[in-house]
Amino acid sequence: MGTIAAALSAAETSPEKFENYTERIPGQSSTVAFDMVAIPGGEISIGSPAGEAGREETDLAQAKVAVKPFWMGKCEVKWEEFLPFVFASREEIEKNKEDGITHPTKPYGSIYRQRGEKGYPAMGMSQHNAAEYCKWLSKKTGHKYRLPTEAEWEYACRAGATTAYFWGDDPAMAGEYAWFKDNSEETTQPIGKKKPNKFGLYDVVGNVTEWVSKENADAAAVARGGGWSEPVTRLRSASRMIETEEWNELDPQSPPSIWWLSAADWVGLRLVRSFESGEAAPAATSTAAAAAAPAAPATDAVKANYKRYCAGCHGIDGKGQTKLGKSKGAKDYTDPKVKAGFDEARWIKAVREGVEVDGQHVMTGYEEKLTEAEMKALVYFMKAL
Ligand code: HEC
Repeated sequence: MGTIAAALSAAETSPEKFENYTERIPGQSSTVAFDMVAIPGGEISIGSPAGEAGREETDLAQAKVAVKPFWMGKCEVKWEEFLPFVFASREEIEKNKEDGITHPTKPYGSIYRQRGEKGYPAMGMSQHNAAEYCKWLSKKTGHKYRLPTEAEWEYACRAGATTAYFWGDDPAMAGEYAWFKDNSEETTQPIGKKKPNKFGLYDVVGNVTEWVSKENADAAAVARGGGWSEPVTRLRSASRMIETEEWNELDPQSPPSIWWLSAADWVGLRLVRSFESGEAAPAATSTAAAAAAPAAPATDAVKANYKRYCAGCHGIDGKGQTKLGKSKGAKDYTDPKVKAGFDEARWIKAVREGVEVDGQHVMTGYEEKLTEAEMKALVYFMKAL
């Protein structure tokens, strides 16, 4: 077996257990890898107390959150991982469109903006771009990657610490752990060079500020952890940066790009993957199978997804006569008239983004929970009911 083939089969079979692993992104001529760290679930207070030094209005009020176990990128996503998404071939871009994955426009000028290249964090992408990257990567690898929620991000950053910074309350120690205004020489720095936090995450604060997922489509885009240009107080675990128009103020385009933030050359991302026991193996196979043959008999993984996410309203038999289904007005999907309305793209879009009936939100989007291939498998499953 060649080294690439060996690497690929290792990536396919590895992360069934909840432990750290290395993922390789399949490429044409070479492979690019990144490390994922297993973060145990637990409970912690996020947000900052009123008296915390450096506290800002944008900090969340303190609240207890519980998070389930998940994997998180050991480092920020580096350019080698991000470029194949931006500079994908025309054929790949066309193919991915069918799965609802869009690729960014090419940036004006150098994508690096005269900052670090190989081994440096990818930066300057919008939250939308970062979220689409996760979808692309999920399809490439067969593992469901996404942006962290704010709770997951802060839980992972704190790694058990209730102090202002994950290392304690002393801002003078920041230089040991982070690249920020005082030591970054006004640019990004190579990933993974400073000391990690207690979970073994590097640059979790500093270097680039990291996008978190949006709670809903209308929510503001939020980035966490401060970047190379920020003062030390932005390295506090509770610090948050909320996107403003200024992040894109140098854009000569009108309307400005939805993919690149011209003035935010300090925002990047870190990956997360949920851990659900038993999820890893079937999800990977169902993804591959669903992409190749959507009308194939439903696998156990597809049935499990349906039962978990859809049956509450649409009914286990698809007739929609559950309590919730009735109250929301779900139709009978065994009715030939409803089946006749089948439209793959529209149905998948409904699952991804949710639907409104008479201006009322009746079905929330599953973009964060399911890959595009899983959504596709589900709508074909409903069509076949
Ligand atoms: C909270 C209730 C609820 C849940 C949960 C839910 N749906 Fe729906 N869904 C609805 C309602 C209500 C409609 C609109 C009426 C109808 O067509 O049944 C709808 C519509 C749809 C449509 C048709 C969209 C169109 O344009 O015709 C599809 C496909 C669909 N849902 C799939 C799913 C799938 C797959 C899941 C699970 C991942 C799911 N739904 C979960 C309530 C729900």
